[in-house]
Amino acid sequence: MSKVDLSAICLRPFKLSDVDDFLLWAGDDEVIKNIRWKTCGSREEAQSFIRDVCIPHPWRRSICLNDRSIGFVSVYPWSGDDRCKADIGYAVAANYWGQGIATKALKIALSQVFIDFPDLLRLQAFADVDNTGSIRVLEKAGFLREGVLRKYTYIKGIIKDLVVFSFLSTDEIPLIH
Ligand SMILES: CC(C)(COP(=O)(O)OP(=O)(O)OC[C@H]1O[C@@H](n2cnc3c(N)ncnc32)[C@H](O)[C@@H]1OP(=O)(O)O)[C@@H](O)C(=O)NCCC(=O)NCCS
Repeated sequence: MSKVDLSAICLRPFKLSDVDDFLLWAGDDEVIKNIRWKTCGSREEAQSFIRDVCIPHPWRRSICLNDRSIGFVSVYPWSGDDRCKADIGYAVAANYWGQGIATKALKIALSQVFIDFPDLLRLQAFADVDNTGSIRVLEKAGFLREGVLRKYTYIKGIIKDLVVFSFLSTDEIPLIH
């Protein structure tokens, strides 16, 4: 596959018409293995997931290449006394890995979410200690590594040590190239 022109990458809300592009990556165990999503097994499943989960989500964006879905970034704000924080998660279709797409998507998200959620002071991310690519993406997007949360949670039935990263509303938003 030829190298992607990063200027053709943008974030936008999901649409029902994304279903076929969505299934290409959301149906891939390699892409979904480090996140809590269940791998999509059919077009019908993909359609209901977009309609019932992605579209109503408080802040879930499709990472698009020339307006076609090749991944996602989600920001989930906490509420009440925890409204100061939100969790960020992301994935990119495997055939596009290693081209700077997730890094660009995170930078675009950073430039938007503190505007969309005025109470937000802290955006946090959790990456499996073995997920070197994800850890690198967070470093490149300007997140601060805070430490390792040992035996923190189960993902797909396996207990995980997770590296926790944060980006604060007062941190400098990285330039988007
Ligand atoms: C993690 C993920 C989002 C990265 O997407 P991407 O578009 O390939 O990310 P980028 O190209 O912006 O950056 C990847 C960086 O990690 C590095 N990297 C990737 N795999 C690596 C590995 N196994 N060992 C060392 N470095 C690795 C790349 O070299 C690159 O760093 P560089 O620019 O300094 O060379 C993608 O691999 C993915 O979707 N994985 C499955 C879902 C997932 O793990 N999501 C995160 C949950 S916390």
